[in-house]
Amino acid sequence: MKNLAIFASGNGSNAQNIIEHFSKGGTARVKLVICNKPDAYVLQRAAALGVPSVVLPRQELVSEPPVELLSLLAEHSTDYIILAGYLLKIPAAIVEAYPGRIINIHPALLPKFGGKGMYGKHVHQAVLDAGETVSGITIHLVDAHYDNGTYLHQATCPVLPDDTPDSLASRIHTLEKEHFAEVVERYISQK
Ligand code: GRF
Repeated sequence: MKNLAIFASGNGSNAQNIIEHFSKGGTARVKLVICNKPDAYVLQRAAALGVPSVVLPRQELVSEPPVELLSLLAEHSTDYIILAGYLLKIPAAIVEAYPGRIINIHPALLPKFGGKGMYGKHVHQAVLDAGETVSGITIHLVDAHYDNGTYLHQATCPVLPDDTPDSLASRIHTLEKEHFAEVVERYISQK
């Protein structure tokens, strides 16, 4: 049984899906949610699902090395880190400590629409501005750069002519729900 720590900054629908998926047993379970925002809705979701969460200040989460964060992860015997709507850059010390064991979900088809500043509505707005007719999700390993690292899975959905960033985000969330936990599970079980 592998132990997962989820890093999340906001709403937490992906965090919830992953917690629920692995609460049924199987290869892993979510031991901890780490968040940088005390008022993030993901904290309420974690509490309702009985998963402990810790809020750490931004300075700690981006420091090199993030001493408190590393010891928290070790205390919870973390095997894999899942980034589920986490907006801060992962410190190099964490990438080094968890090589091939940090997984992110990006709400577009990388390598397009990735990189600094490409998060949340900004991504969907950029997809619409570019006139794309297809968007999707990219589930990938994390290395020292934003939205880089080996792709584990991509899935697509249409972009409709009358889409807004909100309507596209909602279609992308459906896709995330279908794929994220399963891809994480498959990756972990193959290791
Ligand atoms: C998701 O679209 C995810 O792909 C991206 O941030 C969003 C987070 O949504 N990284 P939620 O907080 O999981 O609801």
